[in-house]
Amino acid sequence: MMSRAEVSARVRAVMARMTLAEKIGQLSMLADGLVETGPPGPHNPFTMILEGRVGSLLNVWGRDLIREAQRKAVEESRLGVPLFFGLDVVHGHRSIHPVPLGEACAFDRELWEQTARDSAIEAFSDGIHMTFAPMIDVARDIRWGRIVECAGEDPYVNAEFARARVRGYQAADAEGFMRLAACAKHFCAYGAVLAGRDYAEADVSERTLHEVYLPPFKAAVEESVAAIMPAFVDVAGVAMTAHEKLMRGLLRTQWGFDGLIVSDYNAVSELMNHGVAADLAEAAALALHAGVDIDMMSEAFPQGLPVALERGAVSLEQIDDAVARVLAFKERMGLFDDPYRGIGVDISAGRAARRALSREAARRSIVLLRNEDAMLPLRAKSIALIGPLADAPEDQLGAWASAGAGAESITIVEGLRRGFAGAHVSFARGCAFTAPIDGGVDDAVMGARDADAVVLCIGEDRLSTGEAASRTKPEIPAAQLDLARAVYAAGKPVVLVLCVSRPLVLPDWLVDGARALLIGWHAGSEMGPALADILSGAFNPSARLCVSWPTTTGQTPVFFGMRPTGRPHDPNNGWSTGFLDAPYAPRFSFGEGIGYAHFTRGSLRLDEATINRHAVTTLRVDVTNVSEVPGVETLFLFARDPVAQVTRPLLELKDFTKVALAPGETTQVSFSLRASDFSYLDSELQPRLDNGVIRLFVGASARASDLDCIELTIADGPREA
Ligand code: GLC
Repeated sequence: MMSRAEVSARVRAVMARMTLAEKIGQLSMLADGLVETGPPGPHNPFTMILEGRVGSLLNVWGRDLIREAQRKAVEESRLGVPLFFGLDVVHGHRSIHPVPLGEACAFDRELWEQTARDSAIEAFSDGIHMTFAPMIDVARDIRWGRIVECAGEDPYVNAEFARARVRGYQAADAEGFMRLAACAKHFCAYGAVLAGRDYAEADVSERTLHEVYLPPFKAAVEESVAAIMPAFVDVAGVAMTAHEKLMRGLLRTQWGFDGLIVSDYNAVSELMNHGVAADLAEAAALALHAGVDIDMMSEAFPQGLPVALERGAVSLEQIDDAVARVLAFKERMGLFDDPYRGIGVDISAGRAARRALSREAARRSIVLLRNEDAMLPLRAKSIALIGPLADAPEDQLGAWASAGAGAESITIVEGLRRGFAGAHVSFARGCAFTAPIDGGVDDAVMGARDADAVVLCIGEDRLSTGEAASRTKPEIPAAQLDLARAVYAAGKPVVLVLCVSRPLVLPDWLVDGARALLIGWHAGSEMGPALADILSGAFNPSARLCVSWPTTTGQTPVFFGMRPTGRPHDPNNGWSTGFLDAPYAPRFSFGEGIGYAHFTRGSLRLDEATINRHAVTTLRVDVTNVSEVPGVETLFLFARDPVAQVTRPLLELKDFTKVALAPGETTQVSFSLRASDFSYLDSELQPRLDNGVIRLFVGASARASDLDCIELTIADGPREA
């Protein structure tokens, strides 16, 4: 808890004048309703501002609206306490970047930080003080629509993403105040919902919590994240919004997190739906006890806390602790000095640079998975651009696009026409997202027949993936498959671009029939130019998949970090783990992706092949660009502990790096290793480091065929009884 001593005299003076209703008002966050991110509430926030019964607003932005709301609070309410404003600035605010699942495929910590910094500059100027991001829920089930918001299947990648995002959002401005407070979400294990059903229970073991779902949040706390949002779900029967052990126990006490805990939308009152609170007062008490400071959009704190106080279910001290944290946050954001900080600051001079970064992020996120006969870079003089996603200015922004406007998007049609100025680029929509268009397929086929090559852009609209968008059939809509079938039959070489926000199940013929295949994601405002840069060769693709791509829905969840089992998969032994009706491996593995350059790796070397428990060593490998074009190679470092006290994952990702090489250039890539990097949680969930062999793998993806191996021996360290 924040000690009273840490609370400034100014905050203490304000608190001393507050009535109970005004204190509870500071703990209430209401939506103004510009963007709907949950069921609408009964409130009129502006009335409540005047009465001091709200401390922050969400889902409102724009200088005039923010300024007016703030003016009412500061000049017309009794105590004039400033509001703060929150919004889901998840992948850009006006210059929209690729959806997070796409940008994670860049495997570029610096890029992740830069795009967050640009988002903060844009949101700050629109009067936003907190973003409900980064979303760092490890996700491995493609039925769950919110997989789009995270950095994929791996805890380490989500942790690195968290660090970069928090640094970027919370970078200080010229006055030394952070521009945008990050709110890491959703704490925790939201990605483990039953069968991918959004909001459903997440029944995970204590081990899986600590090995998979908690590490990204630990990283965010280590990076001084300003706020954390609990998940809607219950974890093994304990609703996260009331999870005292994980929030007050682990988060605040063990990890020392002293920021704000902001509930998810209406989640405090939904403790009654969880069946753990009989009324709003009980719900409010449970949440406050667990450490929640701000109730987003529910009636629980405003109506329930006064009753809970009367019942003795909460103390005034607990309420004061939460109020002190909220006011300290506002002070830290400079709002007591200048409640109108940032609103309306002119950032137009940097717009071109922010759009250029949006394009760069899209270029580095688009994954090239096939390029038969080196079809790309495209040399065709006439190109038939086909498909509904080629002209989808809103949908290319993806879900959670904040203030991003389709009118400011550069579509794929526009991008290709600019990027292939010397070629004839025809366009035929072919069909709608989920339905045929009269004559659409015929027009598309005609266009294909008249061209040298086809660029076919299919996928999903942006609302088919995201919150409350779980799907039992995460597939390309039938109308678009019908279009693809007809276009393939025209017999011209096809570049297939999948514009999606999650891995969708693909029919074999769609993949096999494409000469080239790219995952374009929903890549943001500049998706068109970015794709054109890749197809024309102006940019050499360098993205790699951050999530395994299942062959069928039945195969999900599938991920590289599975445990070996007693009967590891053996294609020649039916009595081994696998399926009768689907391959064991995903269609595409974590880390897959190619470019126009080709690289070779020398043999792996360790400075010391045997180290003791306190030692460090370095793994080195020479990488050579053996092609005639410059390129960027991504290398992953995995580890496997073959014998331990508990079963260990088949592969654990320990590091990743990218290296840019000119044609013919060789460079040495090195990974620093500490023996402690290979400790694990024993059967009692206590850290343990054994002596023995650790297998290290370095390569371009999680596929065995892409990995080289070397063994590190840890030579001492008592083998505990
Ligand atoms: C939503 C989401 C959460 C978001 C919040 C505010 O329900 O669960 O991620 O930040 O409401 O929009």
